[in-house]
Amino acid sequence: MALPRSKPRAIPLSGLTLNPEDDTPLHRQLCDRLREAILSGTLRAGTRLPGTRTLATELGISRNTVVNAFEQLLAEGYVTGKIGSGTYVACKLPDTLLQVGNVTDPPKLNDPHGRNLSRRGRMVASAYICEPHDHGPPSAFRLGVPAVSEFPIALWSRLVARYWRQSPAELLSYGSSAGYYPLREAIASYVGPARGVRCTPQQVIIVSGSQQGVDLAARLLLDPGDSVWVETPGYRGARAALQGAGARPIPVPVDEQGLVVEVGQQREPYARLAYVSPSHQYPTGAVMSLPRRLQLLEWADQADAWVLEDDYDSEYRYSGRPISALQGLDRSERVIYIGTFSKVLLPTLRLGYLIVPPDMAGAFANARKIADIHSPLVDQAVLTDFINEGHFSHHLRRMRTLYAERQRVLLEAARQALDGVLTINHNETGMHVVAWLPAGVSDQAVCEHLLLHGIYTRALSSDCLEPIPRGGLLLGYAALTPEQIWAGVQRMREVLAACPALQAG
Ligand SMILES: Cc1ncc(COP(=O)(O)O)c(C=O)c1O
Repeated sequence: MALPRSKPRAIPLSGLTLNPEDDTPLHRQLCDRLREAILSGTLRAGTRLPGTRTLATELGISRNTVVNAFEQLLAEGYVTGKIGSGTYVACKLPDTLLQVGNVTDPPKLNDPHGRNLSRRGRMVASAYICEPHDHGPPSAFRLGVPAVSEFPIALWSRLVARYWRQSPAELLSYGSSAGYYPLREAIASYVGPARGVRCTPQQVIIVSGSQQGVDLAARLLLDPGDSVWVETPGYRGARAALQGAGARPIPVPVDEQGLVVEVGQQREPYARLAYVSPSHQYPTGAVMSLPRRLQLLEWADQADAWVLEDDYDSEYRYSGRPISALQGLDRSERVIYIGTFSKVLLPTLRLGYLIVPPDMAGAFANARKIADIHSPLVDQAVLTDFINEGHFSHHLRRMRTLYAERQRVLLEAARQALDGVLTINHNETGMHVVAWLPAGVSDQAVCEHLLLHGIYTRALSSDCLEPIPRGGLLLGYAALTPEQIWAGVQRMREVLAACPALQAG
């Protein structure tokens, strides 16, 4: 008879020290200390880590910080199990890593698992995308989430049920890697009038969100070592995909007219590609002026470079004239336009599209085929009906009004409760605002302090490749009701009143 296996005893970790004064967030410090302990053999394979509550109390930090550190270790493969009901040091750590005796010699960042990764594998593994707390349900003031509770779920379910009931054979098998043709037609008809994009349905390639769009473009257009212009501050997801393909990011600053093309030309005149978000620069909100757009296209022409245009949320324009896409101005077929349904509908749909020059459609479809063949056909068909039956434009109009009101409420609440601490300007577009901190205050420290108290923001500097003169916090508001916004701002006021970084600043 097999003996019942006793649960391994959790070991004490009281020897761990974290430094709250350090610029590195506490959850990252904790994650690094635990990783070092695993690598040095202090924490052996199979050892049970203390519970998150116990460790938080022992170290005098919040449980959230411990959970974030554990989630990171879980993602990296150093621990296994389930956070909250038993987390164990992974049994299958490579021997080579376990023999590392010197804790001051951490694993190479680009080889986190100590495996024999390829050069490309190392680039992919080290391309940093996001913090564990970046994702999750809507919560004050998590970034990038639309009002998911306002999505017409019942209607969508009816459309889905209709397809599954009819089960047309062509939707139950393999389809075109360029996408479901009626959806490509619907998108081509939409982006012309709505975004000023010039294209035929054949130029539309359906992808699983912008992220895959950037990844496919990087695979097709870049060789390892190629330089690419990236906006700073800028979108980390795109930068990671470009770096994952081996590209060398050249930071190009952004001002109130968007990407400063001249600086790019000085830093790297022959970059292979420029990644831009001209209609609503992420994260500053700048709209690229017409002279800058023309300057960028002229540079691309002269340098024989590509332009990747990320148009992720500019449908939400609340005032001023709609801004046409850069693609519509391009006469040399150098612009790859990227659109997504993540912000206008739901991130979980994982549906987006590329508009590529006519002669590139085959190459992109092939790249998609190699990656994952195509997005689920029924989802594509449902989205087609959603657009063609008018529900898409109705939802968009409704969300535009709702988000404009939510931004107004956020600005008003901040004006009343956070005056002198955060300065927030009206943003004509999008789902987030930049809340500027007083000069000299570390936005990373403030962001970490807020996170310890359950308030999600993103430090502006964490999206930058260069030091910035003034820090800020990015606040998402689209998914929050006015009541949640008022409550979030009040809570923020209380938490910031006791924020050491603000007192020191
Ligand atoms: C600048 C930018 N581009 C694109 C996306 C959307 O990515 P996806 O379509 O892959 O969900 C985001 C989401 O946060 C973003 O901030």
